Amino acid sequence: MNQDDLFKKVIAHAKEYGFIFQSSEIYDGLSAVYDYGQNGVELKKNLRDYWWKAMVQMHENIVGLDTAIFMHPTTWKASGHVDAFNDPLIDNKDSKKRYRADVLLEDYAEKLRQKAEKEIAKAKKRFGDDFDEAMYRETNPRVRKYLDEVDATLQRMARSLEAGDLNDVKALIEEKGIACPVSGSKNWTDVRQFNLMFGTQMGSTAEGASTLYLRPETAQGIFVNFLNVQKTGRMKIPFGIAQTGKAFRNEIVARQFIFRQREFEQMEMQFFVRPGEELKWYEYWKEARMKWHQSLGMDESYYRFHDHEKLAHYANAAADIEFKFPFGFKELEGIHSRTDFDLKAHEEHSGKKLQFFDPELGKNYVPYVVETSIGLDRLFLAVLSYALQEEKLEDGSSRTVLRIPAPIAPVKAAILPLLKKDGLPEISREILNELRFDFNVQYDEKDAIGKRYRRHDAIGTPFCITVDHDTKEDHCVTLRERDSMQQERVPIDSLKSRLLESLSMSTLIK
Ligand code: GAP
Repeated sequence: MNQDDLFKKVIAHAKEYGFIFQSSEIYDGLSAVYDYGQNGVELKKNLRDYWWKAMVQMHENIVGLDTAIFMHPTTWKASGHVDAFNDPLIDNKDSKKRYRADVLLEDYAEKLRQKAEKEIAKAKKRFGDDFDEAMYRETNPRVRKYLDEVDATLQRMARSLEAGDLNDVKALIEEKGIACPVSGSKNWTDVRQFNLMFGTQMGSTAEGASTLYLRPETAQGIFVNFLNVQKTGRMKIPFGIAQTGKAFRNEIVARQFIFRQREFEQMEMQFFVRPGEELKWYEYWKEARMKWHQSLGMDESYYRFHDHEKLAHYANAAADIEFKFPFGFKELEGIHSRTDFDLKAHEEHSGKKLQFFDPELGKNYVPYVVETSIGLDRLFLAVLSYALQEEKLEDGSSRTVLRIPAPIAPVKAAILPLLKKDGLPEISREILNELRFDFNVQYDEKDAIGKRYRRHDAIGTPFCITVDHDTKEDHCVTLRERDSMQQERVPIDSLKSRLLESLSMSTLIK
């Protein structure tokens, strides 16, 4: 399956099996807003729980928080979002389509990069084992030409955006001959800045109402509560505060399914450290977060770091963990060394001190912050697209299977009476009642057993438990494992401990 087909299949599968629906679909949908269905909500919850356990439960010095979506409007002035949370947009005059100018240039650079990779792959095939890829990348003129142009384009774009020189961004788009992907036209408007925050009104009368913003990140709720948590939790530096929750951004170009939405969920952790120690902790969290991703069992080659060359004004180091989505490597999580920018800005705007008295140093200071920030929906998409597989079976038939790590799977086990009679449904329901408090299990008696197995493969259920006539005699059931499709007889009494062994999230964390 090529990557385009895979992506289409992921989207169709997500809908067909109750993972994700377009928001307000009966009204033709709302662009870049999605709802999670009966299986999606379970998978999303499990991913969130796994993150929470790894970050909060497994760290003595990290605690959780749940702050409101609405915050005092000055928060966003202090954080810089009112003045600088902008994307450069450009319209095509003929197609009337709107684009992010930086994305047009990044897509152009990505195409060149892919051309270079194609050349390299061809050479690899030609030279076999003797192929020195690093050398070829450096010396082959065609490859160099592509890669040099990638670097030059991205560097000039970064310089122009940083300097606020939007005329040069437009000039670059024109010089590179970039056309509107819809119409092929090169008839562009000027580039303008567009603030991504959604505004709304709080208050019942027009005169008394004040403008609020829907938070564009959860991090600021943590910063403004820094002292509340530090004092009431008697936290000592270094310590972290974690939270998960909705964030909202009026994305100019929303595409790629749940990858870029206007309403999405973040899982963020701010780690407060001594000034001067932030880069040590930055390296620590880069490594720790990469390990966490790899604990989900996806191949290492699907991840890479992208170290930022162009840093935001508040950061002194930043990197993304990128994942190989069906549409290429893209940001999944950001790790940022945010210095003392946020706490200092809130001190200035609120007039309140946000400092820590360090008993070892005998002085107060504004802590520095290392942030880890991941989009839950992007993580969901990564897991779903990696897990979805079409498999040819030995008997010539095929099956669609979601190889989601068992502890994360939406439904943990399906209990299936072989027939709808002879007391088999009753025994099945007894097993269901025995297991349902500890695991999300389902009872399913409709259709032939093979069809039921396929249905559960397609939603990633790791175990099917079949109750047959022998069960009445030997008090055993057939336990079928999703990936190997192997079946074994297991006493009903041992089912719970057997499932726990494979389904506990601790198996992933270890
Ligand atoms: N507090 C830092 C922060 O918000 P960010 O890089 O803008 O940093 C963090 O966002 C993460 O949130 C991203 O790595 C991505 O996973 C997710 N994210 C950002 N915008 C998103 C969107 N429009 N739709 C879905 N996820 C998004």
